[in-house]
Amino acid sequence: MQLNVIQGDIAAQAADALVVNLFEGVTEPGGATGALDQALDGAVRALIAAGDFTGKAGTTALLYTNGKIPAARILLVGLGKADKFDLKGVRKAAATAYKALSKVKGVQQYATIVHGAGIAGLETQPAAQAVAEGSALAAYQAPNYKREKPEAGPQQCTIVEFDAAKVEQIQTGIQRGQAIAEAVCHARDYVSEPPNVLYPVEFARRAQAMADAVGLKFSVLDEAEMQALGMNILLAVSQGSEREAQLIILEHAPAGTEDQAPLVLVGKGITFDTGGISIKPSADMWAMKNDMSGAAAVIGAMEAIARLQVPRRVLGLTPCVENMPDGKAFRPGDIFTGITGKSTEIISTDAEGRLVLADTLGYVARYNPAAVVDLATLTGAIVIALGSQAAGLFSNNENVEAALMASAARTGERLWPMPMYDEYMDDIKSDMAEVKNSGGRTGGVATSAKFIEHFTEGYPWAHLDIAAMAWTSNDKDPATPKGATGYGVRLLVDLAQTFSAS
Ligand code: BES
Ligand code: MN
Ligand code: ZN
Repeated sequence: MQLNVIQGDIAAQAADALVVNLFEGVTEPGGATGALDQALDGAVRALIAAGDFTGKAGTTALLYTNGKIPAARILLVGLGKADKFDLKGVRKAAATAYKALSKVKGVQQYATIVHGAGIAGLETQPAAQAVAEGSALAAYQAPNYKREKPEAGPQQCTIVEFDAAKVEQIQTGIQRGQAIAEAVCHARDYVSEPPNVLYPVEFARRAQAMADAVGLKFSVLDEAEMQALGMNILLAVSQGSEREAQLIILEHAPAGTEDQAPLVLVGKGITFDTGGISIKPSADMWAMKNDMSGAAAVIGAMEAIARLQVPRRVLGLTPCVENMPDGKAFRPGDIFTGITGKSTEIISTDAEGRLVLADTLGYVARYNPAAVVDLATLTGAIVIALGSQAAGLFSNNENVEAALMASAARTGERLWPMPMYDEYMDDIKSDMAEVKNSGGRTGGVATSAKFIEHFTEGYPWAHLDIAAMAWTSNDKDPATPKGATGYGVRLLVDLAQTFSAS
């Protein structure tokens, strides 16, 4: 999906379609919509008067222009109620328009205005960014192994702005929005790929290719290197797999920030989670190919952070492991001591995410992080608790928590704070080791976070349980088609842009 901006009058554009908008309840459209209504002798007003278009969010109406203007079609997109309209609404309007146009065979390229920058009074640059994000995210198509490829929607969108003074801000907004949306789509790609295609070594190869393309520093630890470091808790999870584990390390350090205390992002990268010896039921086990969604979000975010030249040092680390049952697999009852010297008893080999995070969180202490944020599809319990409306947020630091909540509000990638009471530790005390990796069903969300916290080494830290957010089985949100969502990329990019340690 390509986007560009030009200065001009939208009514004069020769496009396959022009996209303009309407707030709910408006009967006398103004701005670009009013101008097109005039050019079409009141066709838009007639549509509204007939009750065929109300401006409700998520709805569209298509009009044919019959040669009255150069463009062949006009697509009206509803913005919903004016007093509720925000950047989320802009993204949704742009995505809704894209989805509607992709169903019209004759539309390859279209022109639009920046929704919300007119009477809604949103700032131009963020609104343009939201238009770019909404349309590019709606245009996503997952990797496909069929002989016949699905038809692609429109590939070119021109934003038309009448006010020459706004063109530069729109240009900047588009560039940011496109860089971020591309990174989200790459994260979706990693998650979508089948687990026989994307396993730890292949994930590392793709991360390296991306790093080379955008100028990130790339390194990777293989199993021998992790063994030398004593990362036995992480390696335990990998024991049953023929696929070698990889700890991918990406670094963004613009000139002058090489010695800055970094923001460290950590993503759970279980490329397939069978549960191991504590094997999962076979129904829906295929979905556990998305158990590397935390890693995908971190690697996606690092791509955008590099392309946007975010002016701070950021590291992204993703422990990538396959969790398989096998004669060599680790067992319930096993005890391992990891890189921090802390030991854990294994209660369930299906509670493997917290194990790979434990040694990675021990490893990152060497960077003296300003903050560490980990993302993981960690528990089924968070799916029950919050559904797909928000990721769970656990933190031991108010500053990091507040920064994350602010990023969530700005990006619409919702977070909900969860408790970290010390008493939850009692549930994961082990007789023979310092902790055990499962506290049972009750409080399963909190005890998973307490386990991880136990392996942090003094730095400010937050954990996001994204188990319900990584995948969607419906098309309710036009910007998030069925399948991998890429949740977390936009949130982490915003965090990297705004975070300051204090
Ligand atoms: N990857 C799963 C969690 C998960 C479940 C993600 C559903 C997405 C959708 C994780 O490794 C897991 O199996 N967790 C167990 C932990 C339990 C054994 C303590 C769970 O939540 O059941
Ligand atoms: Mn598991
Ligand atoms: Zn898992």
